[in-house]
Amino acid sequence: MSKNHDERIRLPALRKKVTSAEVAAQWISDGMTIGMSGFTRAGDAKVVPLALAERARKEKLKITLMTGASLGNDVDKTLTEAGALARRMPFQSDPVLRAAINRGEVMFIDQHLSETVELLRTGQIAPIDIAIIEAVAITESGAIVPTTSIGNSASFAILADKVIVEINLAQPLILEGLHDIHIPKHRPRREPIPLMSPSDRIGTFAIEIPPEKIVAIVVTEKADSASNILPPDDETAAIAGHLVEFFKAEISAGRLTNSLMPLQAGIGTIANAVMAGFLDSPFEHLTMYSEVLQDSTFDLFDAGKLDFASGSSITLSPEKNKQVLRDIAKYKERLILRPQEMSNHPELIRRLGIIALNTALEADIYGNVNSTHVMGTDMMNGIGGSGDFARNAYLSIFATKSTAKNGKISSIVPMVAHVDHTEHDVDILVTEVGLADLRGLAPRERAQVIVNNCVAEPYRKRLLNYIEGANKRGGHTPHMLETALSWHINYRKTGSMLLHEIPQYEPELELS
Ligand code: COA
Repeated sequence: MSKNHDERIRLPALRKKVTSAEVAAQWISDGMTIGMSGFTRAGDAKVVPLALAERARKEKLKITLMTGASLGNDVDKTLTEAGALARRMPFQSDPVLRAAINRGEVMFIDQHLSETVELLRTGQIAPIDIAIIEAVAITESGAIVPTTSIGNSASFAILADKVIVEINLAQPLILEGLHDIHIPKHRPRREPIPLMSPSDRIGTFAIEIPPEKIVAIVVTEKADSASNILPPDDETAAIAGHLVEFFKAEISAGRLTNSLMPLQAGIGTIANAVMAGFLDSPFEHLTMYSEVLQDSTFDLFDAGKLDFASGSSITLSPEKNKQVLRDIAKYKERLILRPQEMSNHPELIRRLGIIALNTALEADIYGNVNSTHVMGTDMMNGIGGSGDFARNAYLSIFATKSTAKNGKISSIVPMVAHVDHTEHDVDILVTEVGLADLRGLAPRERAQVIVNNCVAEPYRKRLLNYIEGANKRGGHTPHMLETALSWHINYRKTGSMLLHEIPQYEPELELS
């Protein structure tokens, strides 16, 4: 064992547990539930899962896999191709796994990210047999120091019968001290979470478990996968511009100060680009209380705009990753990583007054949002933390480009084909066309504001026509049910929503 390993495995009794990924994977057997580290491609277990996939190619071996969120290093892809996944929760974003889910081959449980460990803790879902956790180091007392994400790792390790640790030498030791691990007590004896600001530390630096639970340690040097988001473009810049103007107006109205409220930004290209748009804004001393910290977080630090960021993972583009890991000492005192149960906790989101910015695949004229199901049926990634934040935020904002697939799809439709966030959880809807402030509006008013402010031609005329027909039909939330999903049906049939004939009002609907 090298000196390098000694400083990474500081409890001498555990050094004899170092073994190969293949031997470690032998602890796993068919039908087990495995909890793995990993959140938005950061801090995932990287080598034991691949050794497991190798076994699954040769023998009957299917597991239930729980993680924090999505994995990198093609772990989901490789496990899917090996036929190793029976069930998967609570989030994924891998195209191969996504296809297997949509073929009905892998049972995917799409869950609010704050809830998975609550269900585990109370025995409402199958218990974890083995946790596989990536670590920077194991401390003198046998506690596990996570790497670039925490996600569900702490509770997985605490609740599992056995733990396999992947010590990753590519993750610098300086990450130690970044984490803040607080685990709530069991209900009904739970106490308020003592966190009053995004920078508060309320827990430990490492995951404390009895060291004898660690049955194997594997040493690796595989880096995290880079983020796969696209750079900002004209449309995302326009979305950011509308939001900056909106916040300026909120400041003028005395509802916000120049440092706004703690910001949450969802995953993906659009949320990252919107945050990047704040670089040219007049706002200062911003804070983030978010889930994933993307490139824009570090750009805002460098621009002197952001004072503090709390998240559950750090997921960066290749260039940004190199720079941030090199300069991590500079950022460290302004950063905290927490378990996703804490980063997404409803109590904290409501207390801190978070401004939540998430992305919609589509929204409807009343503000219901579909973030997950393409054409109402095919899973994209999952709801992730968007529901945790949207329901409890001070301001719940959803952004989307007004069209997708070269204009063939309108992102604003008469009725969403799947609902993740109901109209009750959506305060602001914004596209590159403009922003709809829905606060205090009734459904008929919301429809006018959304269509006039957020929809580009040629879809706007069609939606106004739909609203007119529906309003004549009547109701608190008027619809022409026989046409409400026809845009999606037309897309399925013809590859475009645009071919849809403009719906005409029928005074009396033939019901028989
Ligand atoms: N119908 C079909 N496809 C659509 C669509 C629609 N209405 N709107 C967008 N898409 C497609 C895009 O064309 C693009 O496809 P491609 O990957 O083949 O190019 C893809 O969806 C992603 O869209 P994009 O506009 O690039 O947005 P994004 O990268 O910001 O991702 C979501 C948008 C909704 C998929 C993503 O934010 C997500 O998974 N959200 C749910 C989880 C979440 O919100 N977590 C946040 C809490 S931290």
